[in-house]
Amino acid sequence: DALWCVLPAAGKGVRAGGDRPKQYQPIAGRPMIEHTLERLAAHPLIAGLVVAIAADDRHFEARDTIGGKPLRVTVGGGERSDSVLAGLLALPASVGERDFVLVHDAARPCVRAADIARLVELAGRGEGGLLGAPLRDTLKRADTGCHSIDTEPREGRWRAFTPQMFRRGALVRALRLAGEDGIVVSDEAMAMERFGVAPLLVEGSEDNIKVTTPADFALAEFLLGRIG
Ligand code: CTP
Ligand code: MG
Repeated sequence: DALWCVLPAAGKGVRAGGDRPKQYQPIAGRPMIEHTLERLAAHPLIAGLVVAIAADDRHFEARDTIGGKPLRVTVGGGERSDSVLAGLLALPASVGERDFVLVHDAARPCVRAADIARLVELAGRGEGGLLGAPLRDTLKRADTGCHSIDTEPREGRWRAFTPQMFRRGALVRALRLAGEDGIVVSDEAMAMERFGVAPLLVEGSEDNIKVTTPADFALAEFLLGRIG
């Protein structure tokens, strides 16, 4: 029942700008990915970590363990889902086909330990799930000129976060089949939904932002200071 976590960290961080991919830009003086890795490694339910980095990565500080837990590094791919699949294939053989695996964005350093624990507890009763939050704002459909042309119902609409948790074998199959079908899935849940699985949405803290734009770094620093 050793629960491993795969971290896709092979993105270019185009929207964040800067002199290096966002996961290596500093938050409170340390690369973002170090905060993410440290928080996950410190979680009592997580047994080990696999990081998927870009083939030409020159920034990741490779080591065999973090916080006393095994750390594996593999090469990711062109889409996030390629990186996740590579990470899943780099898991140790001790992680069985039906064992659950967490997937967590390197770009979400502010995830709360209690939210991970709730996801594992609740989604682990079924076939998996993800952290998310119900939409707060009114949702508009825009034309290409940014005019609001319609209003979508907010009820029943959620934002999807990570971690997401699925069984290793099922997730590998779902991601492979999406690739074969030429469909780029934006998260693990989308790959599973295509097979009629309805992943459990577990409401998590809005602090769990995906650092995306330059302004998000200061916000993440503030949130990390508050979460501790
Ligand atoms: N990711 C990855 N492999 C890719 C693309 C993304 O491992 N080919 C990872 C990113 O490193 C990040 C997570 O997936 O940790 C979420 O993706 P996103 O926030 O979109 O990061 P980037 O793709 O790097 O950013 P952007 O889309 O602005 O270029
Ligand atoms: Mg991206």
